[in-house]
Amino acid sequence: MTFLLLFLAYALLLSGALARAGHRSSAPAPGAPPPAAEPRTPPTRVLIVGATGGTGRQLVAQALERGHAVTALARDPSSLPINHPRLRVVKGDVLDPASVEAAMRGQEAVLSALGHRRYFHPTRILSEGTRNILRAMETHGVRRLVCETSLGIGDSAGRLGLFYTLFIIPAILPFYFWDKTRQERIIAGSAAEWVIVRPGVLTNGARRGRARHGLRLGGFLLTVRISRADVAGFMLDQVRSDTYLRSAPGVCW
Ligand SMILES: NC(=O)c1ccc[n+]([C@@H]2O[C@H](COP(=O)([O-])OP(=O)(O)OC[C@H]3O[C@@H](n4cnc5c(N)ncnc54)[C@H](OP(=O)(O)O)[C@@H]3O)[C@@H](O)[C@H]2O)c1
Repeated sequence: MTFLLLFLAYALLLSGALARAGHRSSAPAPGAPPPAAEPRTPPTRVLIVGATGGTGRQLVAQALERGHAVTALARDPSSLPINHPRLRVVKGDVLDPASVEAAMRGQEAVLSALGHRRYFHPTRILSEGTRNILRAMETHGVRRLVCETSLGIGDSAGRLGLFYTLFIIPAILPFYFWDKTRQERIIAGSAAEWVIVRPGVLTNGARRGRARHGLRLGGFLLTVRISRADVAGFMLDQVRSDTYLRSAPGVCW
């Protein structure tokens, strides 16, 4: 009983800390310039980071369907089983700035579905990897970044539902989510045209082609879900849309 109460107190404290540490859409992003007003050609050459993962493969396939010229950054190019004349796979690691730089050359937008499975170690893969992406974007004049994080941090804290807030995040994902808060702050503090996309729990279900999205999305009680396929569709919409520019919309079914 005492253990349960202590765990509950820890879970609530962690949720509060994730709320304060992640990006809050109400707060103006430090140092960010106002959204660009001039008309311009929508980006068509996109770099996809995390391309071999669940969301990443969907991003690659759907970006090609939409007519983009796609560069996929992959640690092991052979693990991306897609061949297409408009797809170039570049071997690289987000923690290796030189390989990110090489992949960035000539791009017009970046989509990141970076993730990992090192749940039980403190890591900086998401935050340091994203910092390298943003640096390379600045070097090569690439303006737009659409990055997948998660509901449950910043002003979406608690919105993955009670089970995730009180059990999954504090028991399994505290290090992972803490690095996501750093990742979000690095993005929000950058001069890029960024959109942080926060999905509910991901499934490998089929694309429905419609999803709910908004700045106050998700449930405090029940867990909201969405397929990786529909997250990818929403992320690709953000390459050309300014609706959520410099904000962090949630997305779920
Ligand atoms: N699971 C959920 O319910 C859920 C809910 C909300 C949000 N999210 C978040 O959504 C994101 C995508 O999740 P997912 O399950 O679709 O992705 P995933 O299958 O875990 O794929 C992650 C991708 O990141 C790549 N990656 C990892 N470390 C890298 C490095 N150092 N350099 C370059 N690439 C690297 C992986 O490459 P390799 O193939 O080489 O490993 C893989 O392509 C994650 O950030 C996750 O936390 C997940």
